Amino acid sequence: MLDTVEGRVALGLRDRWYALCPSSRVPTGELVRIERAGEELLLWRDAAGTVHVQEDRCPHRGARLSMGVHMGDRVACNYHGVQVDASGVVVSVPGSPGCALEGRRALRTFPAEEHADAIFAWLGSGEDTQPEPLRLPETISGGEWGHFLCYVEWDAPWLYSLDNLMDPMHGAFLHRNSHTMFSGKREAVFQIRETERGFVFEKTDQRGVNFDWSEWADTGLQWVGLEIPYPATAGPGGPFAIAATVTPINERQHAAFFWRCRKVSGWERDSWRFLYRARLEERHWAVLEQDRVMLEAMPLDAHRRENLYQHDIALVRLRRLLRSAAQKQLSAERPAEAPVAAVSR
Ligand code: FES
Ligand SMILES: [Fe+2]
Repeated sequence: MLDTVEGRVALGLRDRWYALCPSSRVPTGELVRIERAGEELLLWRDAAGTVHVQEDRCPHRGARLSMGVHMGDRVACNYHGVQVDASGVVVSVPGSPGCALEGRRALRTFPAEEHADAIFAWLGSGEDTQPEPLRLPETISGGEWGHFLCYVEWDAPWLYSLDNLMDPMHGAFLHRNSHTMFSGKREAVFQIRETERGFVFEKTDQRGVNFDWSEWADTGLQWVGLEIPYPATAGPGGPFAIAATVTPINERQHAAFFWRCRKVSGWERDSWRFLYRARLEERHWAVLEQDRVMLEAMPLDAHRRENLYQHDIALVRLRRLLRSAAQKQLSAERPAEAPVAAVSR
């Protein structure tokens, strides 16, 4: 699927960082299998707690390494005992010591990092593609911002969540009964403003009242930033910022990471954290549930039968960006062949 423009858009561009799962999903000593962006992945931690991301496929004959044995600094396949280390090198073939497989780097290994309570990996177009530095949204890079990670897996194509994040107008309708998106106009005229890392999609006639803008950014990690004004009862720190990134699982499911952020430090951060846990978190989950129910009920071919209007120009822009990046990647990967035909819609 990854060798067509449509397939690569559906499963995610390569040569990008993707958030894979919350850190807590991978306890030390366990072998965890997950599917992300169409790849079958094995996640594990070594004795120092460093996380490793590798293909969940034994280099011997393809058994799942995640069904094997965690040996501290290596993983042993349960089928014939072949042992592979964190760099993907086969360190032992117990059934045939000294065979040519020993010492070979035979298991695909993905650069991985852990930040803001999540595990990220670089999914390169080739096995040895050098990763770009992982540049996170400033709201989850530490410093003055405090955050909570809210993680979901939904049964809908990942593009539906991207569309949803770049569609501020749904706040005034789908979430009109929520504690933060009840006020403001229910009509708007939008504009797109280019930025160095992507673009901002914003209402021209309302700001700071409801969900009034979204920013798309591609910094090696593709993410969306937005702000929702908080009522005064929600404590210190000004508006409530969300940094979100979406990772396809396969063409029908995705994982989404919403970091709920506030510019608070010291006692204000403590008080916000308390308030968040005690009162706000439950309300936020209720809002996300409205999104989940809406997106999961949409038909899988929704993009093929749409009638878009002015509020949807960010979606059009985003889809065009993804398609053209996918097309560029495929052409670069197959330089000897004819350029990949554009998919026009
Ligand atoms: S398939 Fe893993 S050791 Fe044989
Ligand atoms: Fe929403």
